[in-house]
Amino acid sequence: MAYQILVEAPLPEWVVDMMGGEYELHIFAADMDLQDIDGFFIYGHIHVDGAFMDRMPNLKVISNFGVGVDHIDLQAAQQRNIPVGNTPHLLDGATADMCFTLMLATARNLIIGDRFARSAAFTHYDPTILMGYEVHSTTLGIIGLGRIGYQVARRARAFDMEVLYHNRNTNPKAEADLGAQYVPLDQLLERADFVSLTTPLTDETRGLIGRRELDLMKNTAILINVARGGIVDHDALLEALQSGQIAAAGLDVTEPEPLPRDHPLLQLDNVVIAPHLGSCTRQTRQAMAQRTIDNLSAGLEGWELPNRIA
Ligand code: 8YV
Repeated sequence: MAYQILVEAPLPEWVVDMMGGEYELHIFAADMDLQDIDGFFIYGHIHVDGAFMDRMPNLKVISNFGVGVDHIDLQAAQQRNIPVGNTPHLLDGATADMCFTLMLATARNLIIGDRFARSAAFTHYDPTILMGYEVHSTTLGIIGLGRIGYQVARRARAFDMEVLYHNRNTNPKAEADLGAQYVPLDQLLERADFVSLTTPLTDETRGLIGRRELDLMKNTAILINVARGGIVDHDALLEALQSGQIAAAGLDVTEPEPLPRDHPLLQLDNVVIAPHLGSCTRQTRQAMAQRTIDNLSAGLEGWELPNRIA
C-alpha cells in the first residue's frame, strides 16, 4: 500500500515526479482526518506543534523542504519520537548569493534605477543621478556566522571587505580562512556599512534587531535580511528607514510573510524586497527536493535520516 503523505499545499509537478509512485499525497485542510498519515512533507512554513502531531498517530517522519525549522516544535517531535529532517548545506551558496544580490541592489539603487530607465522620465543621461554606496572595500557585519554566514564572508573577501561577525560561539575556521573578526553585537552595529542577518530564528534571536540596535547603526548603513523576518522588529525598521537613521534595507524575508499589501515598508524607495528567494535557484531547489524526499523515505522505512535535525 502507498504511504499516506500530508502536504500543506499542492507540490509542483516536478517534485511529485521526483517522488515516484509510492506516495499518496493529501493536501491539508483544517478539519481533515489525519489518522492514516504516515509522513509530513513540509513545503512552506506551516506551523506544526505537538497538538498538530497528535492528530497523526501514525506519523513516522516530518520532512522539511528547507533548512530553517522555526515553524516546527522540535521538542514536541522528540517527545513523540518523530524524526524531523531538513536540508542543510545544499543552500548555503545560493542564499549567500542572494545576500550579495540584495547588498548590491540596495547600495546601487538597482530597482529604482530599473524603474526610472523604463519610464518616460528618462530623457537624457545624467551622470550624478541615483548615486549609490560602494560595496567593495567597506565593512560587513555578519550576525550569525554559521554555514550560510561563512559563504557570505567568502564573497565579502572577494569584494575586499573587512568582515566582522557576531555569533553565539566564535567561528575559528572563518577567522583562520577568511580573517573574519568576532566583535560584540553593539560594536558590529556601530562599525558595519552592511549588516547581514544569517542566523536561525530562535527565542534568542526573535526581535534581535530593534530600535536600540538600529540606532547604533550608521546613517549610511544598509541592513540585509536573508534569514527570517522575525529577527527584525519591522515597526522599528520602518521608522529607521523613514527617518534616515539607516540608509536602506534589503529584505528577502519579512514578518508576517507576505506583509499586508498596504504595509508602509512596501512604499519606501530605500527598501529592496524579494519574496523569500534566498535558496530559489533551479539547482538548489532540485537538490533540496531530493533531500526532502530522501529524509521522508528514510523515516517511513524506519532508517536514519540523511539530515536529521531532531
Ligand atoms: C526555503 C528557507 O525556501 O531553507 C530555509 O530555511 O528559508 C528557504 O530556503 C523555505 O524554507 C521553503 O519553504
